[in-house]
Amino acid sequence: MASQNTGKFFVGSIIIFIIVFGLVNVILSTMLSVAKGTVTPESMANEDVVERIKPVAKINIGEPPVVEVAVVAVAAPTAAGSSDDAGAKIVKSTCALCHRTGMMSSPKLGDADGWAPRIEQGVDKLYANAINGFNMMPARGGNPDLSDDDVKAAVDHMISLTK
Ligand code: HEC
Repeated sequence: MASQNTGKFFVGSIIIFIIVFGLVNVILSTMLSVAKGTVTPESMANEDVVERIKPVAKINIGEPPVVEVAVVAVAAPTAAGSSDDAGAKIVKSTCALCHRTGMMSSPKLGDADGWAPRIEQGVDKLYANAINGFNMMPARGGNPDLSDDDVKAAVDHMISLTK
């Protein structure tokens, strides 16, 4: 009697196991085919993945002559020229955010009329207001990494744009 029950139990377990296994199998393969359907458009081929995760910007150091020319060009300009370059870069990266469009009624880049009354205050006043902030104008254009000289170069560049 006992051994018969054990036998039934054993057979029963196997049947249950097969059913469960079959179900899991069906569920898994359904999931896989659904997943395949959604994933295939975004190919997982190596080069596609590399393409998708590659850095946004790349530094091109492939052409040595170009690099040499650039080094010479950076070294050559006079002090005035290079600080205006630096100012132009800062204006572009930090100040243009507001001053390009005249956001919050900031004086627009290149707008001689808008700048005239400000320039009349004297350039030192403009430096000070740009460095320390002035009404809606944030100190250092909101970029605390800029040194006083950086901000002054940016102001100089803004003034030069109105001429
Ligand atoms: C968040 C917007 C914003 C950014 C970024 C910004 N400015 Fe301004 N700026 C203003 C506004 C607004 C004014 C006008 C303030 C006023 O007259 O009340 C102004 C005015 C100025 C003035 C005139 C000050 C005066 O005395 O009339 C100078 C100079 C100036 N900004 C320089 C800069 C420089 C340099 C940078 C970048 C380092 C910069 N700004 C970035 C909004 C900005």
